[in-house]
Amino acid sequence: MRIDTFKIEEWMNRYCPSAKYDLTTTCIEPLSLRELMTICGISKPLEIFDTKLTYGDIHGSQRLKNAIKSLYKSQESENITVTHGAIGANQLVFESLLDKGDEVISLVPAYQQHYSVPKALGAKVNLVFLREENKWLPNLRELENNITYKTKLICLNNPNNPTGAVIPDDMLKRIADIAKVHNIWILSDEVYRGLNLTGNPYSESMADIYEKGISTGSMSKTYSLPGLRVGWVAGRQDLINEINKHREYNTISVSILDDYYSAIAIENRDKIATRNFKIMKEGLEVLKNWLNEEIYVKANIPQGGTTALIRYKKDVSSKTLCKNLQEKTGVALLPGETFEMEGTVRLGFCTAKTVLQKGLKEFSDYLRTV
Ligand SMILES: Cc1ncc(COP(=O)(O)O)c(C=O)c1O
Repeated sequence: MRIDTFKIEEWMNRYCPSAKYDLTTTCIEPLSLRELMTICGISKPLEIFDTKLTYGDIHGSQRLKNAIKSLYKSQESENITVTHGAIGANQLVFESLLDKGDEVISLVPAYQQHYSVPKALGAKVNLVFLREENKWLPNLRELENNITYKTKLICLNNPNNPTGAVIPDDMLKRIADIAKVHNIWILSDEVYRGLNLTGNPYSESMADIYEKGISTGSMSKTYSLPGLRVGWVAGRQDLINEINKHREYNTISVSILDDYYSAIAIENRDKIATRNFKIMKEGLEVLKNWLNEEIYVKANIPQGGTTALIRYKKDVSSKTLCKNLQEKTGVALLPGETFEMEGTVRLGFCTAKTVLQKGLKEFSDYLRTV
């Protein structure tokens, strides 16, 4: 199977390790195990130290599945399978659902996996672009106009990376209604679910509101534990059975250490959220102040998630801008070209406050030299 280069990953692998101010990150300051234990109030020796490092429960421990189940209104453990991160979850959905000749609609900008993997599997992919003037929310008429009798799957990401847009719950239901009329699956990548900056931090989950809704999630963003390579798929029983069939070939199980600590983290999600929303809101304030003052950029204020999509008012390609910016100042930003949005850069605002402040100051100074 041939596949396009994953442009974001390629860029980040190349530039992030040497960055002085890394503003590309989508994670909220990752936690150490010690910090996790402290936040969760666990001080006693842990039973995990005496547990043999077997493959563990193949589809994820019951404890972890119960924790994941508690994030949804109407999912049972049987509707959930544990995967290698959200990336593994999405991959399994694509592999299990798609055949050559199927059509897929992907709302972009989005994680490139949502369109490059379906394409590699032989599906025809229609990119439906989200627009700034619509606050990066989907135009439902346009979405429906792109549906054909061959459309099998719509992919969306809510809250959205990179725009920071949050699809309101009533709009999610209208998207589900459209999909239902045409009998189409929806893959809702909800890796940033729980990070809405206003109102209920948790948007509705597609798996809860639509029978052909598939929700994927993980430990990376909302729980600040990207190093625990744990994600999951929640969806209809027959789909989960099909996914588990594929999963035997590429996952077997996730590490029982990752499974164990993930369960603890989800069980204590309120405590992690208290810590994370403090970081997010501080970062958002820094970002808002900067956007108010910086004349060479504009952006919609993120409503959730950890990133903002910044349009810059300079006549230079996003790759050249980011490359030169990093070489001259050490500030790493992600060029919009890597997610089909030339003329923009992605900024992660949930990094350490001082890094964000200094990085933005350097970026502003640099913009005056371009
Ligand atoms: C929208 C989206 N989906 C999936 C992933 C992959 O997440 P994970 O680290 O849980 O595999 C990312 C990572 O940045 C992401 O932004």
